[in-house]
Amino acid sequence: MKRREFLKKSMLAAVGTALLGDRAIGRIAEEPVSASAVNSNGKAMKIVVLTGSPRRNGNSAYLAEQFIKGAEERGHEVFRFDCAFKKVAPCRACNHCGMDGPCVFQDDFEELRPRLVEADMVVFATPMYYFGISAQMKSVIDRFYAINGQIKDNPKKAAFLMTYADTAKKEAEPMLLHYNTLLEYLGWESVGTVVASGVWTAGSVKNTSYGQQAYQLGKSL
Ligand SMILES: Cc1cc2nc3c(=O)[nH]c(=O)nc-3n(C[C@H](O)[C@H](O)[C@H](O)COP(=O)(O)O)c2cc1C
Repeated sequence: MKRREFLKKSMLAAVGTALLGDRAIGRIAEEPVSASAVNSNGKAMKIVVLTGSPRRNGNSAYLAEQFIKGAEERGHEVFRFDCAFKKVAPCRACNHCGMDGPCVFQDDFEELRPRLVEADMVVFATPMYYFGISAQMKSVIDRFYAINGQIKDNPKKAAFLMTYADTAKKEAEPMLLHYNTLLEYLGWESVGTVVASGVWTAGSVKNTSYGQQAYQLGKSL
């Protein structure tokens, strides 16, 4: 994929989403939205779950666990990659990979690379850090660059699980916009989001219904 096209498509997606406003990020609703999510053969899916928090027993990790529980009960195969506990260097934009080739870094991304390429679904579970996804997860997403040619327009399902301390829905919008714009660019389809607000201390999400939402989302696949 040409870099100019990458930028053009990303900008068009961003502008389109901005123009559509709330409708474009309609999945901000706290109830998970689910579509039919079997793969194209109607078989069990290969699901990659990326977690972004450095807190092993944190809130987004709990949502990921609940989602995985539901998905595995439905017979799907889950590969979990805890970005904060892996060695994944940030992309250094050397373009050695040409957006579809070997990376100069031989780190833990290599174990994720084939899983992402073959996945039917990718789930992002992250805390909000200054209104964005965690740096640990962003570093991993930026390394998608080396497999861009293989994962773009290669239809996949996706879901987004996020946690944050404040309660204003508006504050979740930048992350949902990012998620939706990324999916629009890649040509992937969202099957749902769980937006867990008002959770600050590690594990406090267990006292809410968000875990059940994440479980139901996995179970609905
Ligand atoms: C570096 C940092 C930045 C944060 N930024 C925000 C923020 O912008 N808005 C907010 O509501 N909470 C913010 N929080 C709180 C976390 O989003 C919240 O505690 C979340 O539940 C953590 O999820 P985790 O347990 O999965 O790590 C921040 C926390 C940290 C450590």
